Amino acid sequence: MQARIVALLIQAKDQGIDYVSGGDIARQLGISRSAVWKYIEAIRNNGAVVDAVPGKGYQLVNSDDLLLPGAINVKTDVVGCEYVYLPEVDSTNSEAKRRIQAGCPEGLVLAAENQTQGRGRMGRPWYSVAGKNLAFSVVLFPSGIPLSRAPFLTPLSAVAVCRAVKKVSGLSIELKWPNDLLIAGLKAGGILLEAGAEMDRLRYAVIGIGINVNLSHGDIPEAVARTATSLSLAAGKPVSRRRLLEEIMISLDSYYTKFCSGGAQSILTEYVELCSTLGKEIAFLWQGQRRSGRAVSVAPDGALIVITKSGEMLTLRAGDVHCL
Ligand code: BTN
Repeated sequence: MQARIVALLIQAKDQGIDYVSGGDIARQLGISRSAVWKYIEAIRNNGAVVDAVPGKGYQLVNSDDLLLPGAINVKTDVVGCEYVYLPEVDSTNSEAKRRIQAGCPEGLVLAAENQTQGRGRMGRPWYSVAGKNLAFSVVLFPSGIPLSRAPFLTPLSAVAVCRAVKKVSGLSIELKWPNDLLIAGLKAGGILLEAGAEMDRLRYAVIGIGINVNLSHGDIPEAVARTATSLSLAAGKPVSRRRLLEEIMISLDSYYTKFCSGGAQSILTEYVELCSTLGKEIAFLWQGQRRSGRAVSVAPDGALIVITKSGEMLTLRAGDVHCL
């Protein structure tokens, strides 16, 4: 019922109606006015700011930032078929894997307000600020995809996020291979793909996405202050977390269904257009040694192809690269 009330208040706001009376809510949902009041209290306890004006009704003040069920409404084939909001969790990727074990549907999206042990690539921690960022994971069961194609889900997700960010904020994101979302060279987000396999078949994939949406300079931890940014800092105005999450879910759904029906090549072409690593001299670790070379292309499985000064061709499948 809380989700239905949130949805109703958001719908009203989207239609330019500021306040919805308790009587209207009660009538539309077939509950009493006192039940409406109790549910509004519960919604407030979940982080929503609801203004109540006698004689006028209720208004959601922070509707742009709300990720509560009912606030997120998408019509998709797979991604978001079930949506779960978690006020706090260790890591949405870890929670996704627990839910896969317990049995959950494909397309489940888990969004957390706060992660106590958010994880980045290469075992690094991922910091996220409650109420200002997006931290969520998507569960996929790409049964028809061979294990060797699993890494392609990272570039696929990166392209999907870029399209959604552009649509909601107007910002152009560049991609640093393999998963960094950059604006003017600074990191605004990242993707952590974790997959499980049986024999040579992909059993599940968890796509974890973290985006710095409305961080101000003071919110960015000292350790990454010189390398990180947020969408709002780059756009010079707040960006709606709710609309961004919805658009990413829609975009991811469309790229994923395209991938499953054999459309990987066009997604790779889009990734190559957005990947700022290509054409640059880069440094990287190769079999424990520091090497460098020119990043020349991305293979169909998402690997980075590098040509060294001596003309050797190397295929990087994991790790970090640094532009020289
Ligand atoms: C990176 O750039 O290193 C990847 C960052 C991925 C962070 C997201 S936040 C949601 C999901 N849960 C996690 O613990 N990590 C990913």
